[in-house]
Amino acid sequence: MVEVRERREPHGTRVPLTELEQSAFCTTEPLVVKPLEEEFKAGVRWQKLPIAYMRMDSTTLRERVGAARRKLGKRAVILGHHYQREDIIAFADFRGDSFKLSQLAAQQADAEFIIFCGVHFMAETAFVLARPGQQVVLPNLQAGCSMSDMAPTGDVEDCWDDLQRVLGPGGVLPVAYMNCTAALKALCGRNGGIICTSSSADKAVRWAYERTPRVVFFPDQHLGRNTGLKLGLSLEDMVVWNPFKPMGGNTPEQLRNAKLILWKGHCSVHTRFTVGQIRQARETYPSINIMVHPECINEVVKAADHVGSTEGIVRTIAAAPAGSVWGVGTEINLVSRIAKENPDKTVFCLDPIVCPCATMYRIHPAYLAWVLEELVEGRVVNSISVDDETGRYARIALQRMLQVG
Ligand code: 13P
Ligand code: SF4
Repeated sequence: MVEVRERREPHGTRVPLTELEQSAFCTTEPLVVKPLEEEFKAGVRWQKLPIAYMRMDSTTLRERVGAARRKLGKRAVILGHHYQREDIIAFADFRGDSFKLSQLAAQQADAEFIIFCGVHFMAETAFVLARPGQQVVLPNLQAGCSMSDMAPTGDVEDCWDDLQRVLGPGGVLPVAYMNCTAALKALCGRNGGIICTSSSADKAVRWAYERTPRVVFFPDQHLGRNTGLKLGLSLEDMVVWNPFKPMGGNTPEQLRNAKLILWKGHCSVHTRFTVGQIRQARETYPSINIMVHPECINEVVKAADHVGSTEGIVRTIAAAPAGSVWGVGTEINLVSRIAKENPDKTVFCLDPIVCPCATMYRIHPAYLAWVLEELVEGRVVNSISVDDETGRYARIALQRMLQVG
């Protein structure tokens, strides 16, 4: 498990360290891979690895990763999330959004090892969906997700118990965004709920409303709110559950009147996008298309022309006419790649500061070289697993997502 340490604020709320570390890599310069020893200077937690890997430059790392990859052949498959660095994506057998990667993880019947270049919750999901005996490896165990860290198991269970007491059996179903722990996924599976990704949230929430009058949506309040509005709910139909207040800060009557209860979590990368950035982009390029990820706040989503998952953003811009201009509200590694792969279009990130997802960015090529070379030597490092009971219920909720999705 990723160790989730937190800082306690004076008023009692807890801020996950992953959130505090988010700005560590922000820069106004283009991102380049430096030897890990230099990147260690950014004020974040890194997993320790043999010193030799820390000193390798990017050319050496590319050669080492390539050689180990070739030796492993079909025994290993490398999955890369769209937010990974270029030097990682270059070695991915498949790249995609969370939904596509979870489908792919479930389809890898032959590979002994699934190397997941993404974050911890994605590797856990791959383990839950993989066939028995397959091993899932996360190259850097410190690659967590600040949003997932905002929904610790104890707080989520307390919320669920409170909701059961107030709303009674069948009064509410849990829907959890993929970006959460296996324990939260299992809570959904155990209680008739479902998992969703950014590309399947509306289908999953609609699925839940066919079975219940109310949904509690974990852990991203923004994806939950954007999805509720898309399905025709109003803001008056929604309440926010603040885990630091008794009953989430709601009265029993407010909870009974609500149709959608939104856990108070967010993505530290996507909440950087603002309506002001969109206004500025439209002033500079009057014919611009604005496309944002649904983890952005609702004001930003409303001001955009298109909303989509990472895969949706990739596909929409690839299919757009030559000469079109795109201002994109998502993680910078993906936006830079889309710009490179669409030289006939103008594509840029709405945020002028270059701020990669600090946890995705921890998959430095040195870690990929290390885990692959260890596998070549017959040693599995950084294996991710989930206990049987949690895995069984998490799988139920994930399979519902794959069926609906
Ligand atoms: P996607 O499912 O759109 O790839 O999103 C994953 C994620 O973590 C976005 O912050
Ligand atoms: Fe988590 Fe946001 Fe990073 Fe996605 S972009 S992995 S939600 S912190």
